[in-house]
Amino acid sequence: MIKVDNVTKTYEVNKISFNALEGVNLNVNRGEALLLRGHSGSGKSTLLSILGGLLKPTLGKVEVNGISLGKIPDDHAALFRRAHVGFIFQKYNLISDILVFDNVIAPLLPTDISFKECALKANTAMKIANIFHKKDQKVLTLSGGEQQRVAIARALVHEPLVLLADEPSANLDPNLTKDFLNEMEKIKKMGKTIVIASHDEILFNSSLFDRVITLEKGKICDFN
Ligand SMILES: Nc1ncnc2c1ncn2[C@@H]1O[C@H](COP(=O)(O)OP(=O)(O)OP(=O)(O)O)[C@@H](O)[C@H]1O
Ligand SMILES: [Mg+2]
Repeated sequence: MIKVDNVTKTYEVNKISFNALEGVNLNVNRGEALLLRGHSGSGKSTLLSILGGLLKPTLGKVEVNGISLGKIPDDHAALFRRAHVGFIFQKYNLISDILVFDNVIAPLLPTDISFKECALKANTAMKIANIFHKKDQKVLTLSGGEQQRVAIARALVHEPLVLLADEPSANLDPNLTKDFLNEMEKIKKMGKTIVIASHDEILFNSSLFDRVITLEKGKICDFN
Protein backbone atom coordinates (compact mmCIF):
# COMPACT_ATOMS: atom_id res chain seq x y z
CA MET A 1 0.00 0.00 0.00
CA ILE A 2 2.81 2.41 0.98
CA LYS A 3 6.35 2.09 -0.34
CA VAL A 4 9.06 4.53 0.71
CA ASP A 5 12.35 3.91 -1.02
CA ASN A 6 15.49 5.71 0.13
CA VAL A 7 13.73 9.01 0.78
CA THR A 8 15.66 12.11 1.75
CA LYS A 9 14.02 15.49 2.41
CA THR A 10 16.39 18.42 2.48
CA TYR A 11 15.43 21.88 3.68
CA GLU A 12 17.59 24.90 3.08
CA VAL A 13 17.52 27.56 5.77
CA ASN A 14 19.88 30.57 5.60
CA LYS A 15 21.81 28.79 2.83
CA ILE A 16 22.47 25.83 5.07
CA SER A 17 21.09 22.46 3.95
CA PHE A 18 19.50 20.23 6.50
CA ASN A 19 18.18 16.71 6.02
CA ALA A 20 14.86 16.38 7.86
CA LEU A 21 14.73 12.82 6.47
CA GLU A 22 17.69 10.81 5.30
CA GLY A 23 17.58 7.52 3.37
CA VAL A 24 14.25 6.39 4.81
CA ASN A 25 12.93 3.01 3.67
CA LEU A 26 9.52 1.81 4.74
CA ASN A 27 6.78 -0.48 3.48
CA VAL A 28 3.30 -0.49 4.98
CA ASN A 29 0.90 -3.24 3.98
CA ARG A 30 -2.76 -2.75 3.21
CA GLY A 31 -4.78 -2.85 6.42
CA GLU A 32 -1.76 -2.35 8.64
CA ALA A 33 -1.66 0.23 11.48
CA LEU A 34 1.73 1.80 12.04
CA LEU A 35 2.90 4.13 14.77
CA LEU A 36 5.69 6.55 13.93
CA ARG A 37 7.43 7.76 17.05
CA GLY A 38 10.47 9.89 17.72
CA HIS A 39 11.62 13.03 19.49
CA SER A 40 10.48 16.47 18.45
CA GLY A 41 12.24 17.38 15.20
CA SER A 42 12.99 13.77 14.24
CA GLY A 43 11.03 14.07 10.98
CA LYS A 44 7.65 12.48 11.77
CA SER A 45 5.48 15.26 10.33
CA THR A 46 7.78 15.55 7.33
CA LEU A 47 7.38 11.85 6.56
CA LEU A 48 3.58 11.94 7.05
CA SER A 49 3.32 14.99 4.78
CA ILE A 50 5.28 13.15 2.09
CA LEU A 51 2.99 10.10 2.41
CA GLY A 52 -0.02 12.41 2.09
CA GLY A 53 1.29 14.13 -1.03
CA LEU A 54 1.60 17.46 0.81
CA LEU A 55 5.39 17.56 0.44
CA LYS A 56 7.70 16.06 -2.16
CA PRO A 57 10.85 14.16 -1.28
CA THR A 58 14.14 15.71 -2.37
CA LEU A 59 15.49 12.25 -3.26
CA GLY A 60 14.01 8.77 -3.43
CA LYS A 61 10.69 7.22 -4.37
CA VAL A 62 7.32 7.16 -2.68
CA GLU A 63 4.37 5.13 -3.82
CA VAL A 64 0.92 5.09 -2.21
CA ASN A 65 -1.74 2.76 -3.51
CA GLY A 66 0.17 2.39 -6.78
CA ILE A 67 0.57 6.15 -7.34
CA SER A 68 4.12 7.44 -7.54
CA LEU A 69 4.42 10.70 -5.58
CA GLY A 70 8.07 11.57 -6.09
CA LYS A 71 7.65 14.07 -8.93
CA ILE A 72 3.89 14.39 -9.07
CA PRO A 73 2.74 17.89 -10.22
CA ASP A 74 0.84 19.89 -7.58
CA ASP A 75 -2.57 19.61 -9.25
CA HIS A 76 -2.16 15.84 -9.53
CA ALA A 77 -1.09 15.73 -5.89
CA ALA A 78 -4.35 17.43 -4.92
CA LEU A 79 -6.31 14.84 -6.91
CA PHE A 80 -4.25 12.07 -5.34
CA ARG A 81 -5.12 13.36 -1.85
CA ARG A 82 -8.78 13.58 -2.69
CA ALA A 83 -8.85 10.03 -3.98
CA HIS A 84 -6.49 8.10 -1.76
CA VAL A 85 -5.69 9.61 1.64
CA GLY A 86 -7.43 11.14 4.62
CA PHE A 87 -5.30 13.43 6.76
CA ILE A 88 -6.04 14.31 10.39
CA PHE A 89 -3.97 17.38 11.19
CA GLN A 90 -2.70 18.15 14.67
CA LYS A 91 -4.78 21.33 14.81
CA TYR A 92 -7.65 19.66 12.91
CA ASN A 93 -7.82 22.55 10.36
CA LEU A 94 -11.60 22.82 10.67
CA ILE A 95 -13.63 25.91 9.78
CA SER A 96 -14.96 26.80 13.20
CA ASP A 97 -17.84 29.15 12.37
CA ILE A 98 -19.66 26.78 10.03
CA LEU A 99 -21.62 23.61 10.80
CA VAL A 100 -20.07 20.23 11.46
CA PHE A 101 -21.95 18.88 8.43
CA ASP A 102 -20.50 21.61 6.17
CA ASN A 103 -16.96 20.85 7.35
CA VAL A 104 -17.36 17.15 6.68
CA ILE A 105 -18.96 17.49 3.25
CA ALA A 106 -16.47 20.15 2.07
CA PRO A 107 -13.86 17.80 0.48
CA LEU A 108 -16.56 16.27 -1.73
CA LEU A 109 -17.99 19.48 -3.15
CA PRO A 110 -15.32 20.06 -5.84
CA THR A 111 -16.06 16.60 -7.26
CA ASP A 112 -18.82 15.74 -9.74
CA ILE A 113 -20.75 13.67 -7.18
CA SER A 114 -24.33 14.95 -6.73
CA PHE A 115 -25.05 16.95 -3.57
CA LYS A 116 -27.50 14.29 -2.40
CA GLU A 117 -24.84 11.58 -2.62
CA CYS A 118 -22.25 13.87 -0.95
CA ALA A 119 -24.69 14.39 1.93
CA LEU A 120 -25.20 10.64 2.29
CA LYS A 121 -21.44 10.09 2.38
CA ALA A 122 -20.99 12.89 4.92
CA ASN A 123 -23.69 11.37 7.14
CA THR A 124 -22.03 7.96 6.95
CA ALA A 125 -18.60 9.41 7.84
CA MET A 126 -20.09 11.33 10.80
CA LYS A 127 -21.75 8.14 12.05
CA ILE A 128 -18.47 6.20 11.81
CA ALA A 129 -16.66 8.96 13.70
CA ASN A 130 -19.44 9.17 16.29
CA ILE A 131 -20.26 12.84 15.72
CA PHE A 132 -23.52 12.59 13.74
CA HIS A 133 -25.55 13.91 16.69
CA LYS A 134 -23.70 17.24 16.43
CA LYS A 135 -24.02 17.66 12.66
CA ASP A 136 -26.10 20.86 12.84
CA GLN A 137 -23.89 22.66 15.36
CA LYS A 138 -21.07 25.04 14.56
CA VAL A 139 -17.63 23.57 15.21
CA LEU A 140 -16.79 26.36 17.67
CA THR A 141 -19.50 25.05 20.03
CA LEU A 142 -17.82 21.63 20.31
CA SER A 143 -15.33 20.25 22.80
CA GLY A 144 -11.79 19.35 21.73
CA GLY A 145 -12.59 15.63 21.50
CA GLU A 146 -15.72 16.33 19.46
CA GLN A 147 -13.76 18.60 17.11
CA GLN A 148 -11.31 15.81 16.58
CA ARG A 149 -14.16 13.45 15.66
CA VAL A 150 -15.26 16.01 13.06
CA ALA A 151 -11.71 15.94 11.69
CA ILE A 152 -11.86 12.13 11.56
CA ALA A 153 -15.21 12.26 9.72
CA ARG A 154 -13.82 14.76 7.23
CA ALA A 155 -10.74 12.60 6.67
CA LEU A 156 -12.99 9.58 5.96
CA VAL A 157 -15.70 11.22 3.88
CA HIS A 158 -14.16 10.39 0.49
CA GLU A 159 -13.56 6.80 1.62
CA PRO A 160 -9.76 6.82 1.38
CA LEU A 161 -7.82 3.59 1.81
CA VAL A 162 -5.10 5.34 3.80
CA LEU A 163 -5.60 7.40 6.94
CA LEU A 164 -2.76 9.58 8.25
CA ALA A 165 -2.84 11.38 11.61
CA ASP A 166 -0.27 13.78 13.03
CA GLU A 167 -0.11 13.89 16.86
CA PRO A 168 -3.81 13.04 17.17
CA SER A 169 -3.77 13.01 20.98
CA ALA A 170 -1.93 16.31 21.44
CA ASN A 171 -5.09 18.14 22.53
CA LEU A 172 -6.85 15.24 24.25
CA ASP A 173 -6.92 14.02 27.84
CA PRO A 174 -6.13 10.32 28.47
CA ASN A 175 -9.78 9.23 28.36
CA LEU A 176 -10.39 10.98 25.05
CA THR A 177 -7.17 9.48 23.71
CA LYS A 178 -8.59 6.03 24.51
CA ASP A 179 -11.82 6.97 22.70
CA PHE A 180 -9.72 8.05 19.72
CA LEU A 181 -7.89 4.70 19.73
CA ASN A 182 -11.24 2.86 19.84
CA GLU A 183 -12.38 4.88 16.81
CA MET A 184 -9.20 3.91 15.01
CA GLU A 185 -9.74 0.20 15.86
CA LYS A 186 -13.14 0.46 14.16
CA ILE A 187 -11.61 2.14 11.13
CA LYS A 188 -8.84 -0.43 10.97
CA LYS A 189 -11.46 -3.19 10.89
CA MET A 190 -12.88 -1.49 7.79
CA GLY A 191 -9.58 -2.43 6.13
CA LYS A 192 -7.96 1.01 6.09
CA THR A 193 -4.21 1.44 6.31
CA ILE A 194 -3.35 3.76 9.22
CA VAL A 195 -0.16 5.71 9.92
CA ILE A 196 -0.05 7.83 13.06
CA ALA A 197 2.81 10.07 14.22
CA SER A 198 2.97 10.60 17.95
CA HIS A 199 5.18 10.85 20.99
CA ASP A 200 2.36 10.00 23.41
CA GLU A 201 3.07 7.06 25.78
CA ILE A 202 -0.61 6.01 25.72
CA LEU A 203 -0.32 5.31 22.02
CA PHE A 204 2.92 3.35 22.43
CA ASN A 205 1.09 0.81 24.57
CA SER A 206 -1.97 0.50 22.34
CA SER A 207 -2.92 -2.80 20.73
CA LEU A 208 -4.12 -0.88 17.65
CA PHE A 209 -0.67 -0.87 16.11
CA ASP A 210 0.84 -3.78 14.22
CA ARG A 211 4.19 -2.03 14.18
CA VAL A 212 6.00 0.83 15.88
CA ILE A 213 8.81 2.61 14.06
CA THR A 214 11.15 5.13 15.61
CA LEU A 215 12.65 8.05 13.74
CA GLU A 216 15.81 9.63 15.05
CA LYS A 217 17.30 12.67 13.35
CA GLY A 218 15.55 11.81 10.11
CA LYS A 219 16.49 8.12 10.06
CA ILE A 220 14.56 5.01 11.01
CA CYS A 221 16.46 3.54 13.91
CA ASP A 222 14.65 0.30 14.68
CA PHE A 223 11.88 -2.07 13.66
CA ASN A 224 9.72 -4.23 15.84
N1 LIG B 1 9.60 24.13 6.13
C1 LIG B 1 10.72 23.85 6.80
N2 LIG B 1 11.85 24.51 6.56
C2 LIG B 1 12.99 24.20 7.21
N3 LIG B 1 13.11 23.23 8.14
C3 LIG B 1 12.01 22.52 8.41
C4 LIG B 1 10.77 22.79 7.76
N4 LIG B 1 9.84 21.91 8.24
C5 LIG B 1 10.49 21.15 9.14
N5 LIG B 1 11.80 21.51 9.26
C6 LIG B 1 12.80 20.88 10.12
O1 LIG B 1 12.82 19.49 9.86
C7 LIG B 1 12.97 18.75 11.08
C8 LIG B 1 11.87 17.73 11.18
O2 LIG B 1 10.65 18.43 11.39
P1 LIG B 1 9.28 17.65 11.63
O3 LIG B 1 8.23 18.67 11.74
O4 LIG B 1 9.13 16.60 10.60
O5 LIG B 1 9.56 16.94 13.06
P2 LIG B 1 8.59 16.13 14.00
O6 LIG B 1 9.24 14.82 14.30
O7 LIG B 1 7.22 16.11 13.42
O8 LIG B 1 8.60 17.02 15.33
P3 LIG B 1 7.43 17.29 16.40
O9 LIG B 1 7.37 16.06 17.28
O10 LIG B 1 7.95 18.48 17.16
O11 LIG B 1 6.16 17.57 15.67
C9 LIG B 1 13.01 19.78 12.19
O12 LIG B 1 14.35 20.00 12.58
C10 LIG B 1 12.42 21.03 11.59
O13 LIG B 1 12.98 22.20 12.13
MG1 LIG C 1 5.41 16.92 14.03
